Amino acid sequence: MYARIIGTGSYLPGNPVSNNDLAARGIDTNDEWIVTRTGIRNRHLASPGTTSSELGLIAAQKALEMAGVAAADLDLIVVATSTPDFIFPSTACLIQAKLGNKGAAAFDVQAVCAGFTYALGIAEKFIASGSHRKALVIGAEVFSRILDWNDRGTCVLFGDGAGAVVLEASDRPGILATAMHADGSQSGILNVPGQICAGQIVGDPFLRMDGQSVFKFAVRVLADIAEEVCQIAGLGTAEVDWLIPHQANVRIIEATGRKLGIDRGKVIVTVDRHGNTSAASVPLALDEAVRDGRIQSGQNVLVEGVGGGFTWGAALLKF
Ligand code: UT7
Repeated sequence: MYARIIGTGSYLPGNPVSNNDLAARGIDTNDEWIVTRTGIRNRHLASPGTTSSELGLIAAQKALEMAGVAAADLDLIVVATSTPDFIFPSTACLIQAKLGNKGAAAFDVQAVCAGFTYALGIAEKFIASGSHRKALVIGAEVFSRILDWNDRGTCVLFGDGAGAVVLEASDRPGILATAMHADGSQSGILNVPGQICAGQIVGDPFLRMDGQSVFKFAVRVLADIAEEVCQIAGLGTAEVDWLIPHQANVRIIEATGRKLGIDRGKVIVTVDRHGNTSAASVPLALDEAVRDGRIQSGQNVLVEGVGGGFTWGAALLKF
């Protein structure tokens, strides 16, 4: 039994916020630095009070509409997020209620920017086992809430958004291979080390990153895991029609494509317009490329993510 993607959806809140807009807000930065080092030109920032479940709900509704699936018929809802609405209940349960579904298994996955690839791999295993038939997998984030707007080395990099896919059990090939890995010994290079204790935030509630260590780690593992899923599926990287890497930095994306020998024209890039939306970045890019017609039926699409933990994951999809 395969899990096939039969619908995609995405949502970006508000208007694009440019690099110059950030500089005009008093951040000590400039368009030239951000574009040269990251390729980012714009990002979207949710208004205060807008939550991951609100963004994820809209992306989910669009994916369900494309799939022609009623929310009531879902039997699994998995949400990848590091910026959940609450400590609990899960964002997946909140979206389930907003969709009007009752009875589906619903839970969140915390694997930061690799979250969507983890959630997709988990849902694929539920469906391949025969226990579940229709799954909604969402990546939804409001990273703007955990940014230190006085830290120019991180606050210019991230944005808010959500993406979703609907998976259905099928005897036609769908997801061909998945892989997930982590190395907790690298937790110090990208984290939000605060805690809530006795009603107070203890420690630092903002995202902290050793950018250069993350950069090197990301390029290495994104190339390794792409080769791993190709090997599991019995395909060469030359047979990948589209590569959708995590959208954090265009230099990481280009270096990964080069290492894999995948032509620049086969790599989907949205980081220039979305910034790094963490778990939402891959499904946002996937939805864009499905809706604009680049991804066609029968093609092989390799999606991959890397993020805090450190975590990394990938899936090879047959459309
Ligand atoms: O989802 C995974 C998460 N993250 C990533 O994948 C990010 C991985 N890392 C990166 O993309 C890059 O390391 C960054 C884009 C974060 C930084 O690029 P870099 O080439 O490693 O720059 P740097 O941190 O070494 O900083 C170089 C200079 C410093 O100035 P000095 O010390 O050389 O005078 C920084 O203070 O650039 C300065 N700088 C800035 N200048 C203008 C740092 N941030 C900014 C800024 N605007 N926003």
